[in-house]
Amino acid sequence: MHDDIKEVLYTQEELARRVGEIGAAITRDYADAVDEGIVLVSVLRGAAIFMADLARAIQLPVEMDYMAISSYGNGAKSSGVVRILKDLSSEIEGRHVIVAEDILDSGLTLKYLLKNLASRKPASLAVATLLRKDTEVQADIDCRYVGFECPDEFIVGYGLDYAERYRNLPYIGILKPELYS
Ligand code: IMP
Ligand code: MG
Repeated sequence: MHDDIKEVLYTQEELARRVGEIGAAITRDYADAVDEGIVLVSVLRGAAIFMADLARAIQLPVEMDYMAISSYGNGAKSSGVVRILKDLSSEIEGRHVIVAEDILDSGLTLKYLLKNLASRKPASLAVATLLRKDTEVQADIDCRYVGFECPDEFIVGYGLDYAERYRNLPYIGILKPELYS
């Protein structure tokens, strides 16, 4: 696995530190939101690892819930066509929802998801994305928490896959281009 990585972008230690900071910020920002309830939502499968670490960095009671959505195909680019494969188990009406995303690329996936979640009338809806890719074209999405602004390369690790591989790398790195082009 490690031989397939061209360059490490964020080490295990850097990820842990940044996720800890985001958790501390959420703890501060949501201290008064506990009565309504806080629901962390992650989009399977990529964001599950980030959310698992983030949840443990938040010093408030939170629920954890999961959605699975699919943009067709398992290639490197988002198609913008989204289908819900698994919906939330919790009701989110009147509750504070924080969507934990692994990476914002075109933003098309998240745009669709946020519209869908907003229609369920949560008390608030915010996004915590571990990575935001520095792309030319990105949907206009207000991310309250951003871990890192990352280069416009295809990256893997810490939940991010290429064709379902590399999710279990403990760091994030750039995949050698010859492996996917
Ligand atoms: P978007 O709809 O283009 O923003 O794509 C979002 C989803 O595409 C992410 O949640 C990832 O699952 C996947 N994705 C986008 N860029 C990368 C990448 O560089 N590596 C791995 N997955 C990616
Ligand atoms: Mg993916």
